[in-house]
Amino acid sequence: MKIGIDQISFHTSHYFVDMAELAHARNEDPNKYLIGIGQKKMAVIPPTQDSVTLAANAAAKILTPENRQQIDTVIFASESGIDQSKSGAVYLQSLLDLPRQVRAFEVKQACYSATAALQLARGYIALHPDKKVLITASDIARYGIGNAGEPTQGGGAVAMIISKDPRILALEEDSTVLTENIMDFWRPNYATEAKVDGHYSGHMYVDFFNEVFDAYREQSGMTLANFAALAFHLPYTKMGLKALRSILPQATEADQQRLSANFEDSRQYNQIVGNLYTGSLYLSLLSLLENTTTLKAGDRLGLFSYGSGAVSEFFSGILQANFKQALFPEQHQKMFAARKQVDVPTYEKIFQQQLPIDGSTVELDLSHDPAPYVLAGIKAHQRQYRKQY
Ligand code: CAA
Repeated sequence: MKIGIDQISFHTSHYFVDMAELAHARNEDPNKYLIGIGQKKMAVIPPTQDSVTLAANAAAKILTPENRQQIDTVIFASESGIDQSKSGAVYLQSLLDLPRQVRAFEVKQACYSATAALQLARGYIALHPDKKVLITASDIARYGIGNAGEPTQGGGAVAMIISKDPRILALEEDSTVLTENIMDFWRPNYATEAKVDGHYSGHMYVDFFNEVFDAYREQSGMTLANFAALAFHLPYTKMGLKALRSILPQATEADQQRLSANFEDSRQYNQIVGNLYTGSLYLSLLSLLENTTTLKAGDRLGLFSYGSGAVSEFFSGILQANFKQALFPEQHQKMFAARKQVDVPTYEKIFQQQLPIDGSTVELDLSHDPAPYVLAGIKAHQRQYRKQY
């Protein structure tokens, strides 16, 4: 039985900051951000959006009366969770008016968690072929203002429906995994911004990629010639490019050209959104699928997932017949085109507008947020979510 991604969508906020402007404000050469880090625009997330509303806004784009009846599992993957106890998935079930007869829960392992959710869903559908699983991968990447990690921030959510006979990508059963306890990136409970050893994390990412990819080649007998394209976890797009470059010497000239050209398609969306932690790999997959003019049904895609701390996985999937028809690039393009550019002082002000952590009540101004699902404030220690339309 084929099992995999039947639908996929993306949502981000309506604000972005231009990376060249940010570079000027930080006395850096714009090409450091544009080329050296590989980012053009960075999503700026207002306080009226959190990991739950971003996920709801993404998921609403792929829910239909039919699939609502078949979804019996909702998995919320995030490292920007809004509660230590209650899962974001329970809020999603109610915001999205999903049936009460679903199991809803949250998973976390830095940027790896959406892949954990995907593999869990694959196994679950194998046992329950008539069901569907809704996965959301939702995060807000925060490193702080004026530090080295600042140009690798961003935020947004990818939603996917996993089912049998998927219309987009059928997952293969072979995958290779690796876990090692390292301190490259983490966020203690008391911190609102990540702790990161940026250069170390970059080296570990490439090392982990090489180890799981070598193990995959050995296990499967495949080489780079078997892959039409590779999609990488892209917290910033130079990172995936470094991993790709580390293995290109294994490939023929023609294979190198194909993989490099497809990498460019796979990073278009990430370059104009920035980092969404666990959703980044799946935004890159979406970017590849919506921007390609060469991929076709039957092509094999390789996917590399990396979550600091660290857990990583290499796995593959086969593009399905008419996969393009299950996508809706116009809607995503329209969302990108409608975004409003904010200047650097405005981005800094929005970044600092954190919700109170002392239990006080707050009412947020919703008049600027055009998204269907928004956070209206906090009252009696409870987040107040609204569906605006
Ligand atoms: N033109 C072109 N390129 C330039 C340039 C210019 N004028 N100036 C500099 N560059 C290049 C540099 O040569 C360098 O390229 P290489 O990496 O190829 O050597 C690149 O720009 C960056 O320059 P620096 O290394 O000097 O930049 P930096 O010290 O300011 O740090 C960074 C860059 C390490 C990426 C930093 O932004 C950072 O720490 N970001 C966070 C990293 C991160 O997110 N790590 C976690 C990733 S793993 C993950 O996402 C999983 C998870 O679970 C969270």
